[in-house]
Amino acid sequence: MCGIIGYTGRRQAAPVLLDGLKRLEYRGYDSAGIALVRGTGFFVRKKKGRVEELSETASERGTVGIGHTRWATHGEPSERNAHPHVCGKFALVHNGIVENGFRLRKELEETGEIFSSDTDSETVVRLLNRLYDGDVLAALKKTAERLEGSYALAILCADFPDEIFCARRASPLIVGVGAGECYAVSDPVAVAGREGKFYALSDGEFARLSPDGATVYDRYLRPVAKEEKQYGRAEVPQLGAFRHFMRKEMEEIPDAIEKSLLKFIDEPLKNLMRRTKSVSIVACGTAYHSGVAAKTAIEALARIPVEVCVASEYRYGNPVSGEGTLVLAVSQSGETADTIAAARLAKERGASVVAVTNVADSTLTTAADLTLYTYAGREIGVAATKSYNAQLALLYSFAVALAQGKGREELPYSALTELPALAKRALRACDGVRSWAQRFQNARSVFFIGRGSDYAAALEGSLKLKELSYLPSEGYAAGELKHGTLALIDRNTPVVALLTNREIAEKTMNAVHEAYARGARVFLVTSLPEYALRKEVSASVVVPETDPLFSPALSVIPLQALAYYTALACGNDPDKPRNLAKSVTVE
Ligand code: F6R
Repeated sequence: MCGIIGYTGRRQAAPVLLDGLKRLEYRGYDSAGIALVRGTGFFVRKKKGRVEELSETASERGTVGIGHTRWATHGEPSERNAHPHVCGKFALVHNGIVENGFRLRKELEETGEIFSSDTDSETVVRLLNRLYDGDVLAALKKTAERLEGSYALAILCADFPDEIFCARRASPLIVGVGAGECYAVSDPVAVAGREGKFYALSDGEFARLSPDGATVYDRYLRPVAKEEKQYGRAEVPQLGAFRHFMRKEMEEIPDAIEKSLLKFIDEPLKNLMRRTKSVSIVACGTAYHSGVAAKTAIEALARIPVEVCVASEYRYGNPVSGEGTLVLAVSQSGETADTIAAARLAKERGASVVAVTNVADSTLTTAADLTLYTYAGREIGVAATKSYNAQLALLYSFAVALAQGKGREELPYSALTELPALAKRALRACDGVRSWAQRFQNARSVFFIGRGSDYAAALEGSLKLKELSYLPSEGYAAGELKHGTLALIDRNTPVVALLTNREIAEKTMNAVHEAYARGARVFLVTSLPEYALRKEVSASVVVPETDPLFSPALSVIPLQALAYYTALACGNDPDKPRNLAKSVTVE
């Protein structure tokens, strides 16, 4: 998703901006641009495609500037739609969506504005320029009052050539103050390793940055004191000996699981668990799939009903939640707009909200009563890998704690502590799927099937494959195949079957047989080696056995590898799948 970097200081701004934009690349983008204050105006360069396209601007002079990576929402990916947008005395970069952008644009056009892009962001800079009469903050406040939706803004004004002006609502923005310099960034990675003090703007706040420091203002433009955050201490992940971050991040899975298991339940969480009569899990994408896996474990162990909701549906539904409902809002980034909105709605309705996130001080934490952190470390690959396993570790140990709190003592916690070592062994199984990739790359479509926990892992395996290889793929409940979907299966449809629960293995094998009988090649991921020998199975990998409730934490690993190798076989970059963004901060 879009990324912002702004710099004002004693150094040349262009190299700082380009470095920041490179670090923001992992978020997913389709164009990039920078603006530098130059005389009484601006130097602006924008390009469709990669940040490298801007590399010739590194020698451009100027100590104040803003930069942006754009992930298209309004208007196609193109140079004219790339940011910064300039109007009169202002250059502006914007993250978020101006929901009344179309109306504002019409209003501005009717009174003579001529737009040069198709973006909602350009309405902001045009409105600001109209409302400006020498006081930037006052004009910015009036502009913000007209905007509906979300924004993080970094703005240059030709009348104040040393300064950057900022505003935030529902899109993250961080201000950094170093010695003789200031930064404005949308993502801590852009300032990782930089010296200085860092502050996160809250919704409705504004900021004014100069080489001498920064002042943050509330919605009425009264200066506010901010609490310092430790963003500068974060490290910029390096590839090391790996070709891609995705593969490196998979190797970090055992560590992510180990660190994310809940080792201690404090009193506030215990109290909250005691009051819990039902659980709702709200999340998107991979995080939603970890919720599906957690449902099986929580219901089996704690005997509490669990619903798992796609956050974008929950927020516009009419959810039945209130006292006694515990809402787990799960999000790697903690910045997913739909998940944050779902958490806020749940809280409004009287539910207790626990955020489960990998990012300290992310916006989701502000919408929750309590936060539980996963410790997967920064994830750069757009496709989630280690963060999924970390979420599972946390949610499974949460399930065990919830069950303990309900007086259910006979619990498989020791199976959880063994998961990191078993995950190391599961990683060794990844080589086994490398050769499968050739057979998948030309498939018409792919099915991933399983029952119970295996179904949860099938959903995630399928998402990984489609986002990285661009092959149509579906995760399906094995028993449901015969109720219509079997019509899609033929010899060009590989079927990946998951089999980790001995008690229902034969039932899943019925579905395998039905697919095999229609000509499908069946690829098995199992912890039950005897099934690998069945005649229906074309190829198999064996993962270590664990309690079937927790098996997705292991069985997903070869599926992640399958998606990785298939992406390579298809000639795709596994770290940067087309059209996708790492954190989806818009609706
Ligand atoms: C898929 C993937 C996405 C995210 C989803 C939610 O590999 O990464 O589906 O899981 O966008 O993101 P978070 O967890 O940051 O809320």
